[in-house]
Amino acid sequence: MSLQPRRSTLLLLLLTVIVGSVTLLLSSCGHQKIPLIEQKCGTCHSASVVYQTRRTEQGWRQVMHGMKIRGMEITPEEEEQVYAILFSEFLLE
Ligand code: HEC
Repeated sequence: MSLQPRRSTLLLLLLTVIVGSVTLLLSSCGHQKIPLIEQKCGTCHSASVVYQTRRTEQGWRQVMHGMKIRGMEITPEEEEQVYAILFSEFLLE
């Protein structure tokens, strides 16, 4: 009987380690999908191009300009939302 608490502690520890490694594995496999980015930036190329890129604000403005030249269709509202995402998630610091 005295073994019970110790065994459950060990199980809990094991569980923590497993959950931890799975989380780490998933996060290293790429960024979580962002619907607006998938929709606006995932048509000509994979949206993972965006998830793997880090740019300064100036750099992202240049990229967006370049995508427009290549034919990206985006409303001013959507553009603002995309910038908000890029600046909060994919900023080069
Ligand atoms: C109309 C097609 C099109 C759409 C829509 C599009 N792209 Fe691109 N993108 C391209 C092409 C073509 C390339 C590769 C050619 C090149 O880099 O010269 C590219 C390359 C890129 C690159 C890698 C090259 C670089 O300059 O760093 C990034 C980052 C990028 N796109 C971001 C975006 C983002 C962010 C969006 C959504 C807001 C987007 N793209 C939507 C056409 C598009």
